[in-house]
Amino acid sequence: MNHQNTNPSDHVPNDLDSYWMPFTASRWFKENPRLIARAEGTRYFTPEGHALIDGTAGLWCCNAGHNHPHIVKAIQDQAARLDFAHSFNQGHAIAFHTASRLVDMVEDFDHIFFTNSGSEAVDTALKIALAYHSANGEGQRRILVGRQKAYHGINFGGLSVGGIGLNKGQFGTLYPSAMQMRHTWLLDNAFSKGLPDQGADLADDLQQICETHGGHNVAAVIVEAVAGAGGVLPPPKGYLERLRAICDAHGILMILDEVITGFGRLGQGFAHQYFDVKPDLVTVAKGITNATVPLGGVFATDKIRQAFLNGPKTMVDLFHGYTYSGHPLACAAALATLDVYQSEGVFENAALMAPIFEDMLHSLADAPGVIDVRNIGLMGAIQLDQHADGMGVAGRAAFEGLWEKGLVVRPVGDSLCMSPPLVIDRETIEQIGDLISAQLRG
Ligand SMILES: Cc1ncc(COP(=O)(O)O)c(C=O)c1O
Repeated sequence: MNHQNTNPSDHVPNDLDSYWMPFTASRWFKENPRLIARAEGTRYFTPEGHALIDGTAGLWCCNAGHNHPHIVKAIQDQAARLDFAHSFNQGHAIAFHTASRLVDMVEDFDHIFFTNSGSEAVDTALKIALAYHSANGEGQRRILVGRQKAYHGINFGGLSVGGIGLNKGQFGTLYPSAMQMRHTWLLDNAFSKGLPDQGADLADDLQQICETHGGHNVAAVIVEAVAGAGGVLPPPKGYLERLRAICDAHGILMILDEVITGFGRLGQGFAHQYFDVKPDLVTVAKGITNATVPLGGVFATDKIRQAFLNGPKTMVDLFHGYTYSGHPLACAAALATLDVYQSEGVFENAALMAPIFEDMLHSLADAPGVIDVRNIGLMGAIQLDQHADGMGVAGRAAFEGLWEKGLVVRPVGDSLCMSPPLVIDRETIEQIGDLISAQLRG
């Protein structure tokens, strides 16, 4: 085999069994394998060369579009210079440079802990919250509060506080002191543009948990800034502010999961800036490297960090970390990604395109079978009515039809979720609208 001229991505595999695929109905997949071989900008290409619009920026992550040459080069250069060194009581400069650059983007946070994924970021944030209270002599604070329909990844902590029943059902109880608030999807709010009017009072579920279990026993509440994998649910007006106030009243840490919304999805660096709320911890991943090399992180305020610095100088201050925390390749990818975001005005383009995206989505409101349209920034969902054969049937059929037509969307049950690359232009948004219209209107 000539290794120089052969890329495995170009060859349709004979063996579709060895790879146990994530979150996949594998028998259904194998009936008609959907494979992607190549990507560029806002487009994917199949091994046969068919172009697809990437309506989901990978999985809410390729914000600067695919295969950006500056990011590609930075990864190549770093691989040739320092492929790997760990960070346990030793270090490498690029991880420190990356951390400084990232905390410069967020006024209220002075530190970032590196992980390899969003799931690890969430579990890290939950552990930091528990350890923070222990360090402050409040080790009784063990309750972690999440929300129905929430997705915080698939590790033990994130799944415990998460609220998507299908993801939890196979595993039973994980962290025993996890509780859920109600979700914020109200049909009264159907077809809202941006933040819905109704539902700020749903934040009072946290107050009720405090009254029932003792606010002094609650360690943290975690919510997505905009619930993504639950079907794109922007928070009701005033909801996040109310949650913050309840946290303050009871000494509870507020963790904002920005794995999707971080790095420009709403047209600003981070959603907590867009909403003007001040969480104690913020989880990020995905767009941090434009998804080129896995990297996640937890932003922490200085108040949180200082609580870990009271022990003996030679004692590890947080007994937590990953072999690949601050991996040099991931850091090189992150630095280059931040260069691109800044020099090409990627977040500004997202803000500019958001109203065009909103108009496109809502122009589909009267298509057959559409019961709700939700959007904020460059994320949105078209909610289809459930088919008589059950939940997910309509969503799956639309997903398959759209793939054939040349558009990738993310079906979540019966909602068609979209989060295009932030470098998208008006023409591509209009093409997305035309393809979905053709699919739904026939
Ligand atoms: C809000 C949120 N948190 C956490 C995660 C988990 O991230 P990862 O898949 O990188 O583990 C996701 C993934 O989509 C997410 O949307």
